[in-house]
Amino acid sequence: MLASGILGSTASLLKRVEEAGAGAVTTKTILPRPTKGFSNPVVVDLPFGMINAMGLPNPGIDEFERELREARSEINIPIIGSAGGSTPEEVAHVAGRLQDAGADAVEVNASCPHVRGHGVELGSTPEMMRELVREVRRSLRVPLIVKLSPMVPDIRSLGRIAVESGANALNAVNTMRAMYIDVEAMRPVLSNRFGGLSGPAIRPVAVRCVYELADLCDVIGTGGVESWRDAAEMLLAGAKAVGIGTAIRRKGLSVFSEIKVGLESYLLRKGLSLRELIGRARI
Ligand code: SIN
Repeated sequence: MLASGILGSTASLLKRVEEAGAGAVTTKTILPRPTKGFSNPVVVDLPFGMINAMGLPNPGIDEFERELREARSEINIPIIGSAGGSTPEEVAHVAGRLQDAGADAVEVNASCPHVRGHGVELGSTPEMMRELVREVRRSLRVPLIVKLSPMVPDIRSLGRIAVESGANALNAVNTMRAMYIDVEAMRPVLSNRFGGLSGPAIRPVAVRCVYELADLCDVIGTGGVESWRDAAEMLLAGAKAVGIGTAIRRKGLSVFSEIKVGLESYLLRKGLSLRELIGRARI
């Protein structure tokens, strides 16, 4: 499935991802009000991934509702609306409106590592996670997914609290707070100085997080998946779905069909069904 944060801001982009072979799509994180985001530069590409600090640019829920209704009428796969905000009440408000505009599930962004007052700052302690998930749960009928940060001391405890508070599934993981300095200019490259590291560099961390969470509830494995082998690793760790984000920037939309074809021949070679693969490395 398409991970939140890339190609998720308009109906036409989401449609292109469906046509490329994704099994589900996640929107960009939507906030209560329009936000311009940070000024350039907002992305640094690295050999082993990328660091982004976009600043949660988005049209706000009023505007995005129209886009989501259009997407809903044109797209045949599940659409997951990503909800953000600076308080549990704000996130719950956005979540309810994403649901009403046609989202099949809502993902709470409790994990963006670099926008003050958002993301990981809302869900990094057990108390905050409990309050956030309970509040959002109250406004939803559709399944609730909580996207977790890998930058917490005990992701399993936090995941358990999210599930006990009403989450139906967890997404592991969002990006890791990082920095890149240009040694010639002798200053950080990103305008926000800090950003979120994604891509192959964080895959082993993401796999570990999936492994630690997969017996608590359904888990979406996200973080550095670029090939069928990477997807197989997530599934073996116990993920029931795999999120693709940064790989689209690095390899293009053909990454979805490439992974599907590769996984199919791997399963054939191993004589296993997809169901039998899930969690098989859990010992
Ligand atoms: C951003 O918009 O800066 C990234 C969002 C995220 O990491 O959740």
